[in-house]
Amino acid sequence: MSFKAIIALSVLGLVGAQQTLWGQCGGINWTGQTSCGSGAVCTYLNDWYYQCLPGTSTSSRTSTSTSSTRASTSNTSSTRVSTTSTSSTRVSTTSTTSTRVSTTTSSPSSTPTGRVGKLPALGWNSWNAYRCDINETKLLNAANQMVSLGLKAAGYQYVNIDDCWSNINGRDPSTQQILPDLNKFPNGMASVASKIHSLGLLLGIYSDAGTKTCSGYPGSLGYEAIDAATFSSWGIDYLKYDNCNVPSEWQDNWTYPDWGQSNSAIRYRQMGTALAAQSRPIQYSLCIWGAAQVWTWGASVGQSWRISGDSAPTWSYITSVIDRNVAIIDYTNFYGRSDMDMMEIGNGDLTLAEERTHFLMWAALKSPILLGTDLSLLSTDQLNIIKNKELLAFSQDELVGAPAKPYGTATTTPPEYYSGKSSKGVHVFIMNTSSSTSTKTITFANVPGLGSGSYKVHDMWTGTDVGTFSGSWSTSLGSHDSGGWLITPA
Ligand SMILES: *[C@@H]1O[C@H](CO)[C@@H](O)[C@H](O)[C@H]1NC(C)=O
Ligand SMILES: *[C@@H]1O[C@H](CO)[C@@H](O)[C@H](O)[C@H]1NC(C)=O
Ligand SMILES: *[C@@H]1O[C@H](CO)[C@@H](O)[C@H](O)[C@H]1NC(C)=O
Ligand SMILES: *[C@@H]1O[C@H](CO)[C@@H](O)[C@H](O)[C@H]1NC(C)=O
Ligand SMILES: *[C@@H]1O[C@H](CO)[C@@H](O)[C@H](O)[C@H]1NC(C)=O
Repeated sequence: MSFKAIIALSVLGLVGAQQTLWGQCGGINWTGQTSCGSGAVCTYLNDWYYQCLPGTSTSSRTSTSTSSTRASTSNTSSTRVSTTSTSSTRVSTTSTTSTRVSTTTSSPSSTPTGRVGKLPALGWNSWNAYRCDINETKLLNAANQMVSLGLKAAGYQYVNIDDCWSNINGRDPSTQQILPDLNKFPNGMASVASKIHSLGLLLGIYSDAGTKTCSGYPGSLGYEAIDAATFSSWGIDYLKYDNCNVPSEWQDNWTYPDWGQSNSAIRYRQMGTALAAQSRPIQYSLCIWGAAQVWTWGASVGQSWRISGDSAPTWSYITSVIDRNVAIIDYTNFYGRSDMDMMEIGNGDLTLAEERTHFLMWAALKSPILLGTDLSLLSTDQLNIIKNKELLAFSQDELVGAPAKPYGTATTTPPEYYSGKSSKGVHVFIMNTSSSTSTKTITFANVPGLGSGSYKVHDMWTGTDVGTFSGSWSTSLGSHDSGGWLITPA
């Protein structure tokens, strides 16, 4: 079938049925409806997802239906090329500043397959608990605890090995395959994968877009195809790809007008392309520490991108990474997430209030949530934080991809007031950044999507209704504590 014929069929398709509110209406390889029913506009979220969002703007509809037709009918490389020059016609319901760059010419140009990673990853990673002192026993213990502690039932899926799992002495001399350290993983990685899978969980692994990992184990730069095929053959479901030991010829050496063409982007795209070529869907986490303006191109390469250096169990890390994410919040949506790094709940001397805020803000801003502690040591209070049904449901909403965003005029760093939509309605999240007395009031008319009338306030932490209030509602939060509320018309 010719390209024109495909377009013609697609246009004919518009005449018949229309996609319903919140439904997908475009994106690479999307073959369903590309037009929305009345009251909804087909809106570009990223190259993999156009969604029917509430609205009636005529100009939006025109430009987005053009884009969505193109995105749903062209092949991968032509989509990439054709969207470059027209990115200004893309609309986004919320963003006024996101001038997305697209990765066009530099090889390779293959894109994520859209088979995995629509929602923020939920799971566990070995690093914060064990650093290099990882082995099969510890990993399988964590996996078993994810089941026995009810974390799997709450939605946690990934059991991720971090650095130091491979044979530090190098690759197989004949096949160049990366090898496991058989002292730590005596049964090999395929065996670990099969044990993790039999628990109904998924296995993640780690490598590096340089010559060696951060701890000096073999890196994947130049071995991307071999390593992706090896990971796939072992049954790996997720790759965290670090950014250490980059040779000088691969450093970003000037201020790229399009950071999607930077040497960093090419290094990460080489592995993304290799993963996309595997029959096994492998989620791809770019551990690039916020370099090379990754938020502008990360969603065209993987499903999440780190925006900071490594996390620390400190209030200053938590507040600084929230503030950093807020600055680029419009780039987070389905299939593409700013990653605020692994959880520190259970580590250091964070207070319970700080741990609540840590979890609530990771959920509200839709970062991946990868627990990073010895799960057997968590208290009941800590388990209740990380299993909170309503916050996890906000993070994992199948219909709304956008995170909560600050509203009103922020007087603190990071901002204290956030709002966002879910399939249940409008939510407000507040964090108390200070230790000085103030009153936190939700004035309904100031919250996007609400008005001046009466609203029912529902507490997401406790899962209980607070009451019905007219105009506004005030609450008290302890120092560094936070709350989340669903606010629906009375
Ligand atoms: C697919 O992309 C290639 C490379 O841009 C182009 O030559 C070809 O015409 C495209 N095919 C279709 C069906 O769009
Ligand atoms: C789109 O579909 C084609 C044919 O099924 C496939 O070869 C290609 O990898 C898909 N592209 C993406 C980005 O998934
Ligand atoms: C992993 O380490 C623990 C603690 O040092 C040890 O008890 C266990 O036997 C080790 N397992 C393997 C497979 O080496
Ligand atoms: C930057 O590095 C690339 C790849 O090594 C090289 O081709 C290019 O000439 C360099 N550009 C500058 C301005 O040094
Ligand atoms: C924030 O915490 C401080 C210190 O505990 C407290 O005095 C203040 O009232 C809290 N703010 C809110 C809005 O609850």
